[in-house]
Amino acid sequence: MNYQIEQASLLDLNALRQLEQECFGEDAWPLLDIIAALTFPGEVRLKAVVDGEMVGFVGGDPHPREGLGWITTIGVKTAFRRLGIGKALLEACEKQMTVPIIRLTVRRTNLEAIEMYRNAGYVEVELWRRYYPSGEDALLLEKKR
Ligand SMILES: CC(C)(COP(=O)(O)OP(=O)(O)OC[C@H]1O[C@@H](n2cnc3c(N)ncnc32)[C@H](O)[C@@H]1OP(=O)(O)O)[C@@H](O)C(=O)NCCC(=O)NCCS
Repeated sequence: MNYQIEQASLLDLNALRQLEQECFGEDAWPLLDIIAALTFPGEVRLKAVVDGEMVGFVGGDPHPREGLGWITTIGVKTAFRRLGIGKALLEACEKQMTVPIIRLTVRRTNLEAIEMYRNAGYVEVELWRRYYPSGEDALLLEKKR
């Protein structure tokens, strides 16, 4: 599968809304969060593109003065999973956040994503009980480099 990793912009608003819906359902980001992710200065916003279609997205929020950055969202459309796109997006986002520590939260039951993060060198540092609106626990994962 040929895909490119490219900068995303506000022009991707509708595509990102659809992607968020497909990946996260009722937990998808509200419109304002999506607009923020596509416009806030200093944020990392990268998309994976196949034949002109956005099939994946990653957001990053670097805090250089604190020496850490957050992966804020990552998702790949169902039909394009297990092709290495999620891993490529994660690596590209890490590269753009030139900070020594990267963190993210993930649902405790999201085994696919947890497996991807473990393989990428993330380790569990905390458990946040009932973090998500559904009441599910979150794992705080961290990678030092
Ligand atoms: C998590 C997600 C982004 C992975 O995207 P992807 O493009 O399928 O991931 P990749 O193909 O790059 O896989 C990278 C690694 O993740 C792990 N992985 C991904 N899907 C997996 C699955 N279904 N079962 C087990 N391991 C899996 C594997 O270790 C894989 O490496 P491998 O293929 O060499 O074994 C995708 O499943 C997704 O969009 N899920 C819904 C949204 C989501 O949960 N995002 C994370 C929120 S914290």
